[in-house]
Amino acid sequence: MKKSFLHMSFLAVTVFAFAVFAGTAFSSDGCDPGEIVAKFSHVTGGTTHPKVVAANNFAARVNKEMDGELCVEVFPNSTLYGDSKELEALLTGNVQFLAPSLSKFGSYTPKFGVFDLPFIFADMDAAIRFTNSAAGKGLLTEMSDVGFIGTGYWMSGMKYFSANKPLILPSDAAGLKFRVQTSDVAKAMIAAMGASPQPMAFAEVYGALQTGVVDGQENTWSNIYTKKFFEVQDSTTQTSHQLLAYLFMTSTDFLNSLKPEVRDQLMKIADEVTQQANEEVKAKEAKNRQNILDSGGKINVLTPEQRKQWVDAMKPVWKKFEKEIGADLINTAAGS
Ligand code: LMR
Repeated sequence: MKKSFLHMSFLAVTVFAFAVFAGTAFSSDGCDPGEIVAKFSHVTGGTTHPKVVAANNFAARVNKEMDGELCVEVFPNSTLYGDSKELEALLTGNVQFLAPSLSKFGSYTPKFGVFDLPFIFADMDAAIRFTNSAAGKGLLTEMSDVGFIGTGYWMSGMKYFSANKPLILPSDAAGLKFRVQTSDVAKAMIAAMGASPQPMAFAEVYGALQTGVVDGQENTWSNIYTKKFFEVQDSTTQTSHQLLAYLFMTSTDFLNSLKPEVRDQLMKIADEVTQQANEEVKAKEAKNRQNILDSGGKINVLTPEQRKQWVDAMKPVWKKFEKEIGADLINTAAGS
């Protein structure tokens, strides 16, 4: 790893020329000549975010344990691709790993809408139980026809609403504009609150909140802290109304291009990194919640009666999507 080009010997130059000729990927950013380079692009930032930590951990383990064979380079914070381009880039082979939110697959399958149904998971443990069920595991290959393979689910946290005014009851949100991800379920949920959904890429949210293009947004503590959304909002309300989780994914083309033993080792590391990420996520979320408070952000905690009003306002959304998601899948997730 990380050899300086200034010290490239004649042999290394010859290897480089051969690698280029043979079509082997090569990178000047810390990967060795001859290694297959896999780019991992994602949109989150900071140092304490669960996705940032898991992606870096994956890269560190591959780069150590598969040194000489495979090299993963991570591009965080939408620096390589933002929301709208990253899935396309995976299909065209310009990137090999992603971890988009499960709410961003609407153009490929309606099934992932199950993860977005408001209040379907009591907490992240329930969501993990669902992803470990046969139905949850089956969804990892739901888009294999398109060319996408899920290697695991990374939990990120429950979601909370923030706005430029305190939101205590759903009626407080009436008439406001909320940034949402590109999920039809999220759009219907915001409409059920009498508010207006504005789909927007993650990289644009801070600016849109700051300039008043939107009044509010919904996200995890880790995103609200690392992207500083709390700085441009009145407060965040602890609704836990939805799950945010990621599909840690690659492409069938990339996986099929690897020798079987390389693929097996890579998938074993991917699996172990996934398990570790899901074990650590709750602590990271708790820390980032505290980080918001320590930085002067305000959090509104709801009474059980207030929270029930949010549940009641959003529950009709389930019926609207029952047909396209499938009643069985919804029941399995809800019973997890
Ligand atoms: C969002 O767009 O709000 C999230 O999906 C960003 C992320 O990847 O956590």
